[in-house]
Amino acid sequence: MTDTEYYDLIRPYDDAMKLLLTRLEILNHNIYKASAENPIHTMQYRIKSKQSIEEKLIRKGEEPTLENAKDLLQDIAGIRIVCYFVGDIKNLIDMLKKQSDLIFIRERDYITNPKASGYKSYHMVLGVPVYRIEGMQYYPVEIQFRTLSMDLWASMEHRICYKGETPEETAEAFQYYSEELSQMERNMKHLLDEIRKDLSLIHISEPTRRTPI
Ligand code: GTP
Ligand code: MG
Repeated sequence: MTDTEYYDLIRPYDDAMKLLLTRLEILNHNIYKASAENPIHTMQYRIKSKQSIEEKLIRKGEEPTLENAKDLLQDIAGIRIVCYFVGDIKNLIDMLKKQSDLIFIRERDYITNPKASGYKSYHMVLGVPVYRIEGMQYYPVEIQFRTLSMDLWASMEHRICYKGETPEETAEAFQYYSEELSQMERNMKHLLDEIRKDLSLIHISEPTRRTPI
């Protein structure tokens, strides 16, 4: 794949990714209308580099060509959404699935079914319509949804376990941390719910404003 071929390849994927980022931003400030709290903590995004595309195709036993990249890779464009709580992820997924001009291509729910390593995240691939001079075409964008605690785990695990052999105790420690972090997150959600309940009571006990006619 030449550099020119690579840049021509990624252009519409980059457009598709930006369109989806905008939709996610809209959901972020719209989804919980009544409260000022947004579900998303941070959004990250990237286009796969030429080297990563070629390496991934070779890893799959395929020729590192432009055609194979288009046909076989669904994560050329990737977005990572870090939310506060699991419920936020569920709400965002439901809202995205309702956007009928997007194609739902696939999902991997490693929150319901964590990987053996302890990895948790929800991955989905959406087809995003991009209008260009040749007409409309759908381009796949992969979204990884995580909570802050899942992101902490994945970042640390990537740093500590990724390269070389991971000692058994280290792998076991990470399996344990995965559940500990989820428990911590559930406890924090509970604390938040308690505080919200108290706030709503204060709200209800406020006197009703009366306006003389
Ligand atoms: P890929 O060829 O890697 O895309 O395989 P796949 O399509 O089966 O993807 P998978 O659903 O396993 O997700 C791959 C991505 O998820 C990786 O690029 C990582 O970002 C993340 N991931 C998956 N498993 C782990 C894990 O055990 N630890 C960490 N830190 N990240 C993981
Ligand atoms: Mg992948």
